[in-house]
Amino acid sequence: MASTNTSAPDASSWSPDSWRAYPAVQQPAWPDDQALKRANATLSGLPPLVFAGEARHLTRALGQAAQGRAFVLQAGDCAESFTEFSADAIRDKLKVILQMAVVLTYGAGVPVVKLGRIAGQFAKPRSSPTEQVGGQVIDSFRGHMVNDDLPEAAARVPDPARLVAAYQQSVSTLNLLRAFTKGGFADLSQIHAWNQEFVASSTEGRRFEDIAEGIDSALRFMSACGIDLTGEDTLHEVDFWTSHEALILDYEEALTRKDSLTGEWYDCSAHMLWVGERTRQLDGAHCEFLSGIRNPVGSKVGTSASADDVIGLCERLNPERIPGRLTLITRFGVDAIDDHLPELLRAVESEGHPVVWECDPMHGNTFTAEGGQKTRRFDDIIGELQAFFRIHREVGTWPGGVHVELTGDDVTECLGGFEDIVEGQLGLRYTTTCDPRLNGRQSLDLAFRIAELLRG
Ligand code: PEP
Ligand code: CO
Repeated sequence: MASTNTSAPDASSWSPDSWRAYPAVQQPAWPDDQALKRANATLSGLPPLVFAGEARHLTRALGQAAQGRAFVLQAGDCAESFTEFSADAIRDKLKVILQMAVVLTYGAGVPVVKLGRIAGQFAKPRSSPTEQVGGQVIDSFRGHMVNDDLPEAAARVPDPARLVAAYQQSVSTLNLLRAFTKGGFADLSQIHAWNQEFVASSTEGRRFEDIAEGIDSALRFMSACGIDLTGEDTLHEVDFWTSHEALILDYEEALTRKDSLTGEWYDCSAHMLWVGERTRQLDGAHCEFLSGIRNPVGSKVGTSASADDVIGLCERLNPERIPGRLTLITRFGVDAIDDHLPELLRAVESEGHPVVWECDPMHGNTFTAEGGQKTRRFDDIIGELQAFFRIHREVGTWPGGVHVELTGDDVTECLGGFEDIVEGQLGLRYTTTCDPRLNGRQSLDLAFRIAELLRG
């Protein structure tokens, strides 16, 4: 195979900073090198956000999805924000993800691996390093881990103190998520409380209530039969994992720690890390970094990826062929998926590489509306998902999961859906700091459609 010359990584030469010898695209031009070194030193001394054992647990859960026995729901903001940060927003995002997971589990009868784009998703790759605002050319916004989104030159100067601030916000986010998911909020007896008011009044909200009542009565039936469910953790707690794009390698390196149990390296900034469509070069710094950490990892795969590129990713990132270690997140767009996905599935299948195939139906379907906002059509998102499931069925591979950008809030960022949001309404509640997200209703609607496709 041509590009597999990218040689399996030489594990003996890997270290948390070995990426520095490779070309690293999409890194900020930090103006103050000393300040960057100080931020790195501070981060290196701070506690890890996650444990190596948790990352291993997630690899096993994803391994089930690689082998056709589970489905992954990876979801959250395009970019988390320092300013739109509150306990309510975290809770509401968790609510909609829990709702979606219930719809998928109940509706399709498969276990769902719940993976947030959260507690670290603060950095964005950009197609252009600068943008024009008024008559002025200023640096692009690269996520709150790097600079500020205000459209002013001074706000866009990269500030390494933001790396530490991103860590701190990730800590408090993860702390609350752990409290919610292990402390009673995710208990199935709370299922009705996950349906937010603006969602509950919609068709999807009512469908969700039907499921919730079905679950209630099943639980009542079991306890009436004398089955004691109080000790059944899976009914009272949820495993909720964190993930983000491993983009700013100074941050990821500083949070990479050696596991005392196994002596292996883990990037303890999140349970799962992925490389983006713009940073997945086989001979680049990002793949070098991911190749040596033992967390489950992923790569976006878009229309520019050849079958050889994808086999190269499998060999570079999962030479040991561990199921669950590698997730390939395809993002072609509704019009391009048929031209690309079948060939990639067949190539990976024939090489015998175990991967989780996730569909990101968002990033290939983005366009700019007349009012200037970036947006996506709900129908295009559904269209790419339908094609994803159909193609997997045709090839005989397992559609392992979805990767979506959403929020629990009642935003107007994506077009269509139950409320049939039209272009003129995008400005009403358009609050994303980067890409357009599905709102709570659209997300739940999406989950019902996916459950149908899974049953399909
Ligand atoms: C993203 O997931 O927000 C993103 C930038 O995706 P991609 O790398 O696929 O463009
Ligand atoms: Co995005």
